[in-house]
Amino acid sequence: MTGGVLRIVLVGLGARSRYWLDVIEADPEACVVALMDPVAERREAAGARCPGAALLASLDEIAGIEADAVLLATPPGGRAAQIEAACRAGLAILAEKPLADTLAEAARHVATAEAAGVPLMVGLNFRFLAVTEATRRLFASEVGRPAFSRFTYERWRDGHQAHLNKYPLEMAQPMLWEQSIHHLDLLRHVYGAEPVRIYARTFNPPWSMYRDDANVSALVTFGNGIEVNYQGTWAANWRRPAFEWRHECERGVVLQRDQFGELSFARRDDERETAVPLPPYRQWIDDAAALLIAFRRALAGETALPCSGADHLRSLRMVEACILSSRSGQAIPMDDPRLLPPVADRMPHANPTA
Ligand SMILES: NC(=O)c1ccc[n+]([C@@H]2O[C@H](COP(=O)([O-])OP(=O)(O)OC[C@H]3O[C@@H](n4cnc5c(N)ncnc54)[C@H](O)[C@@H]3O)[C@@H](O)[C@H]2O)c1
Repeated sequence: MTGGVLRIVLVGLGARSRYWLDVIEADPEACVVALMDPVAERREAAGARCPGAALLASLDEIAGIEADAVLLATPPGGRAAQIEAACRAGLAILAEKPLADTLAEAARHVATAEAAGVPLMVGLNFRFLAVTEATRRLFASEVGRPAFSRFTYERWRDGHQAHLNKYPLEMAQPMLWEQSIHHLDLLRHVYGAEPVRIYARTFNPPWSMYRDDANVSALVTFGNGIEVNYQGTWAANWRRPAFEWRHECERGVVLQRDQFGELSFARRDDERETAVPLPPYRQWIDDAAALLIAFRRALAGETALPCSGADHLRSLRMVEACILSSRSGQAIPMDDPRLLPPVADRMPHANPTA
């Protein structure tokens, strides 16, 4: 990093990249040095926002750029060449979730980065919300340890809208890979535990615009005994979205009614719930800004790398277990040989500048 500023090559200039450009522009310790997308109009539109940045049409050109990291905001399928190019250039990788669209491919990316000694972080931005941290604090203070929970995410996601990506309309299991991955990862993060068994059913309601399943129902059992009842859908049939994550704990409940905030708690005999004050937040901005700071601090050697590729594989194993369970009609133990075994996180203190 030059003068503490993280120099970023932003790869993939679609819907998500626009948020990243906002976040990087506002961060005095990060800058975009190059923009890469095979589509010329996208390069030009992004280039107009970053006058000093090189515009690249091919991954081959990454090697000539003075940079510290690549940020992959590309569709998750077919990222092997991007990962390899970053590794050849010795650039740290921040990849949007999911790392790949199969568990096997994601494991190959993690192995490639590890072999090259390149730090690989995955953008699980929901971990970085104030509401997520506040929930964990409530377990430790007000209500005690959780024993079971219900997580519902109901959304009519009109995938044809101009500002949204289009590939989920055609991909396999779009809800699981694109959306539930955030939720399954949050379960591991908030409960500080690993799943031991998953029973799931995925399906597509008759009005779904997605080629493959837009609905996921799952019962997840964690190693510390926590049981989760999860329902997520992109084909809820009302435009107004609904979200509720209710944790049942030793002395009461924690209620989160918005995926970005709205937190409260109640002890068993309380008449009313108590709202938990949260700092003001800008959706998709503050969470990504915090994630970028965490990436930079890890690269500077100040902390372990959060959301590492190896850690992400543990959440992707949950996605894969849901698919296997739905296909077979059986609960899947997480040591099922059809799931790739978890890999050790061997690069906790990445410091490419050292
Ligand atoms: N973390 C979040 O909250 C969040 C939100 C939205 C999207 N995402 C993720 O961001 C990623 C991108 O999603 P999106 O909505 O921007 O998709 P998109 O389809 O809108 O944009 C993808 C861009 O990548 C480009 N591209 C395709 N192949 C490429 C290649 N080989 N090299 C360089 N560029 C290439 C496309 O031309 C397009 O401009 C996905 O992984 C998605 O899941 C994350």
